[in-house]
Amino acid sequence: MAGAVRLEPVDEENLESLLSVAAAEAEPGDVMPPVEAPAGWSHARREAFREFHRASFGGLDGPTRTLMFAVLAGAEVVGMVRMTRCDAPGVVETGMWLGRSARGQGLGVATLRELLNAAAGAGMHSVVADTTRANVGAVSVLRSCGAKLLEHGDKVHAEISLDATPPSR
Ligand SMILES: CC(C)(COP(=O)(O)OP(=O)(O)OC[C@H]1O[C@@H](n2cnc3c(N)ncnc32)[C@H](O)[C@@H]1OP(=O)(O)O)[C@@H](O)C(=O)NCCC(=O)NCCS
Repeated sequence: MAGAVRLEPVDEENLESLLSVAAAEAEPGDVMPPVEAPAGWSHARREAFREFHRASFGGLDGPTRTLMFAVLAGAEVVGMVRMTRCDAPGVVETGMWLGRSARGQGLGVATLRELLNAAAGAGMHSVVADTTRANVGAVSVLRSCGAKLLEHGDKVHAEISLDATPPSR
């Protein structure tokens, strides 16, 4: 599935498309931190979604130390993947979501592979992620990308060494 998706840094240009996909095809809890707002995709939650993403326009060296990418399949925005600098040099933590209609087609694996390429390009040597055993899709995606998985109760910590990652294309 290499080449199945393209990553574009989230910016004012693609932010509304990203919000549309999130509102139509994802749960708020999967795509943004909790906010005090009426349930569902209320006006307040949409505005909080915009501000949450704008806060990371500065990328890895900005205030949130986070680079967020819109995931594109063809011309369509289908989700988001991010990397956040950890305190350890050369290490970033990742997280992603895809709209429901884009799931289960291998795009999660393709997206993480692109993120690994971007992390390597930014000079990183490791990508880590935290999820739960219950998130079977996320665990599968991480395993498919060569992650070492450390289980602690319900929690799963994943570590991907970029030196050991096979080239994606
Ligand atoms: C997690 C997520 C990104 C996975 O993306 P995806 O495109 O559906 O995953 P893929 O199609 O690339 O599937 C990769 C593997 O996971 C498996 N898988 C994916 N979703 C699954 C599910 N819900 N249940 C069981 N297996 C699943 C696929 O069968 C595939 O297995 P294989 O490698 O053995 O063939 C997507 O489900 C999602 O956005 N979920 C909501 C947000 C979220 O949980 N993000 C992760 C937070 S840690």
